[in-house]
Amino acid sequence: MLKIAVLISGSGSNLQAIIDAIARGDIAGRIAGVLSNRADAYGLVRAQQHGIPTAVITHGDFADRAAFDQALTRQIDAWDVDAVVLAGFMRILTPEFVAHYEGRLLNIHPSLLPKYKGLHTHRRALEAGDREHGCSVHFVSAELDGGPVVAQATVPVLSGDDEAALSARVHEAEHRLYPGVLHWLANGELEYRKGSVHFQGRLLATPLELPPAP
Ligand code: GRF
Repeated sequence: MLKIAVLISGSGSNLQAIIDAIARGDIAGRIAGVLSNRADAYGLVRAQQHGIPTAVITHGDFADRAAFDQALTRQIDAWDVDAVVLAGFMRILTPEFVAHYEGRLLNIHPSLLPKYKGLHTHRRALEAGDREHGCSVHFVSAELDGGPVVAQATVPVLSGDDEAALSARVHEAEHRLYPGVLHWLANGELEYRKGSVHFQGRLLATPLELPPAP
C-alpha cells in the first residue's frame, strides 16, 4: 500500500479525483494526510468528509520559507509516507525540502511541459494560438515546474475557447492523469532513479501519454 500525503492550497478537485480512484480500487494506496497552507481551502472539507487526517500550516506564521518548509516536513514525516503529492499547492518549496523528498515528490502542472512553466498557462496557450494544450505530472526538482515529466494528457484547444472553458477541459484531464500516475507508482511500475524516470523497468525517454477520454 502506497502511503500518500497530499498538499493543497485550494479547491482540491485533484485530491477528490485521487480519493475517488482509491475508493474504486484503482490505486493500491491510501492517503495518510492532507496538508494545506490555507485554512479556508475547500480540499480540507473534502478530506474530512472521507475521514482523512488534515493539517493546516499557514506560511504567514513563519519568519521565512525555510522555517515554513521545516514545519511542513515535520508534519509530512509524522505521517510516514511513501509519496508526497502536490495538488494545487501554491507555494514555492526550498531546495532542502525538495532534496528531502527526492524521488517521492510529484506535482501536476496545467500545461504540456516544458511549455508554460509558472502561472496563467491557459491564457498563454490561447494567446500563442496553440491547437493543443494539456497537463503534466512530474517529479519535482529544485527548478520551478522542472524535474522529469512522467506523463501528460493532451486536450484540444477549440475555436471560441476562453480561459475558463480551456481550464475546465484541462482540469478534467488532470483528474484522469494524476490517479493514473499514482496507480503506476503504487504498483511499482513507475520508479525514480537518480533524476530519471523508469517505467516497467525501462528508462522513460518521453513522457507517457494518457489516452483521451472515451
Ligand atoms: C490544477 O490546475 C493544477 O494543475 C495546479 O493547480 C490546480 C489545482 O486545482 N497545480 P484543484 O485544487 O485540484 O482543483
